[in-house]
Amino acid sequence: MTEKPDTMTDDTPFDPPRPLPGDRSMTAEIDRMVRVDHAGEFGAVRIYQGQLAVLGDRHPKSAMIRHMLAQEEVHLDRFNKLIKDRGVRPTALAPFWDVAGFALGAATALMGEKAAMACTAAVEEVIDGHYQAQRDRLTATNADPDFEKTIAQFQAEEAEHRETAIEHGAAETPGYAALSGAIKVGCRAAIWLAKRV
Ligand SMILES: [Fe+2]
Ligand SMILES: [Fe+2]
Repeated sequence: MTEKPDTMTDDTPFDPPRPLPGDRSMTAEIDRMVRVDHAGEFGAVRIYQGQLAVLGDRHPKSAMIRHMLAQEEVHLDRFNKLIKDRGVRPTALAPFWDVAGFALGAATALMGEKAAMACTAAVEEVIDGHYQAQRDRLTATNADPDFEKTIAQFQAEEAEHRETAIEHGAAETPGYAALSGAIKVGCRAAIWLAKRV
C-alpha cells in the first residue's frame, strides 16, 4: 500500500509545518541575511586578530581590542549556530575573508594604532548601517522577532566599538578621510559579494 502526502488527515502529525508562499520567500530572505552576517562577523574576528597580531599583548590598546574581539566571537558563535540550525550554506568566500580580514587588521595596525582605530571605526559604521537595514526589514515584515532582537543587540555592540575607536583617536590618523573612505567602500563591496557568493 502506498502512502501519499495528500492522504493526511487533521490528526496527522504535522512536522515540519509547511510555510505559506509568502513565508517561504521571507525564510529565504532571512537565510541570506544569516549568510551575509555570518561572513561579516567572521571577517570582524579576523580584523581584530590581525590588529592584535601586530600590536602584541603588551600594547596599551590590546586589552580594549581583546574585549571587542571577545564580543565578535560571541556574534560569530551565534551565526555559526544559526547557519547550522537553518541549514544555510555559508559563503563560499570564507577563505578569502579569512585572509582579507586579517590583512586589513594587520595592515592598518602596522600604519599605527590610530590607523587601526580608524579601521575599526570605518568597519563598524558600515556594519551598523547594514544591521539597521536588516532590522528595518524585519520590523516591517514582523518575520522573525527573535532574530531582529539578536541583530539589535549585536548592532549596539558594533556602535560601541565604533565609539570606542573614535575615543581612542581614530580620526587623528594622517589621511583619515581617505583611509576611512577606502575601508568603507571595501566593506560595502564585501557585503555585496557575501549576498551573492
Ligand atoms: Fe560583530
Ligand atoms: Fe564589531
